[in-house]
Amino acid sequence: MNNIKIAIHNRPGSFSDRWIEYFHEHNIPYKLVSCYSTDIIGQLSDCDGLMWHWDLNDYRSALFAKQLTISLEKKGIKVFPDFNTSWHYDDKVGQKYLLEAIKVPFIKTFVFYSRSDANNWAETTSFPKVFKLRGGAGSSNVKLIKNKNEAKQLINKAFTTGFLITSPVSRLKERLWMLKRDKNLQAVKKTITGFARLILRKQKEKFISKQIGYIYFQEFVPENDSDIRLVIVGKRCCGMIRYCRDNDFRASGSGLVEYNYELINIEAVKIAFQTAKKLKTQSVALDFIKDKDGYKLIEMSYAFISEIFPGYWDTDLVWHPGNVVPQKFMAEDFINSINKITPETE
Ligand SMILES: Nc1ncnc2c1ncn2[C@@H]1O[C@H](COP(=O)(O)OP(=O)(O)O)[C@@H](O)[C@H]1O
Ligand SMILES: [Mg+2]
Repeated sequence: MNNIKIAIHNRPGSFSDRWIEYFHEHNIPYKLVSCYSTDIIGQLSDCDGLMWHWDLNDYRSALFAKQLTISLEKKGIKVFPDFNTSWHYDDKVGQKYLLEAIKVPFIKTFVFYSRSDANNWAETTSFPKVFKLRGGAGSSNVKLIKNKNEAKQLINKAFTTGFLITSPVSRLKERLWMLKRDKNLQAVKKTITGFARLILRKQKEKFISKQIGYIYFQEFVPENDSDIRLVIVGKRCCGMIRYCRDNDFRASGSGLVEYNYELINIEAVKIAFQTAKKLKTQSVALDFIKDKDGYKLIEMSYAFISEIFPGYWDTDLVWHPGNVVPQKFMAEDFINSINKITPETE
């Protein structure tokens, strides 16, 4: 146990805060690294594992995080998140194929790579549908499409100018919602910067690639005033209900969260465990809504916002009460996974 050495990419405010706390609590040695160093492979040569919480808010990680992960795995260095856990992160297009392939309940989804294919489909399908971009979070790139004309306008845009993944207009709408919800000084400040960002774009936004050359639609599942977010780390499942914004079908990013586990239907928990097993992930947050046939997956993500949950279900669906921090489960499982492989590789 004490011989293992794990590297952590430290990013204050990210999962690394909790990982480092866990390593201190258990007297486990670690080394801090920056994955952005060009000699990162060399820096990790004396390490057994790397933990790096990269996320969609940093355009740089999208340029190489998966490539670094798979390269380290080839070298025998374990990574959190590993390739199975991370390759589909912030990629709803990739998730469509994966969720169809592993046969889990998933909302019917359509992706087209030419304007004519998309237009032909729009001519014959029914509406409403849900339009999404492949990336983004907090519902920012999710829109209800009421009729064929709206669909055709989006199709035209997808194959001409394309879309921005972080649009200043949708960010402002989000901040106006926060102002309505919170009515505090912080929300006022954020709304003002939201207006300012309509004109003054952040330098880094210029580096984010445009969404162009594909279009994604999903069947609309009506009558959900919330979605269920289930977080699976190893053999534990934590959950929360997220309510939709006022007069809106979208829950993600609303901030209207309920942690009472008794409100979560155990059927969704079962599907979540089955899905995580098929995906072979270290950590996955799975979002569900219900249609006439039962719970269906919307999307998944190895990383998520919440930190403390009031307990978890085990794989026998037994509830274990008490505050838990999923990020610490990640660190625990990761260290155990390295300990397990050591004897086999000797
Ligand atoms: N096909 C759908 N039918 C009905 N509601 C949906 C559908 N897809 C998403 N939603 C709602 O919109 C929210 C945001 O969608 P999601 O795909 O999870 O985007 P994001 O990545 O921004 O969270 C979800 O939390 C859910 O409430
Ligand atoms: Mg979501």
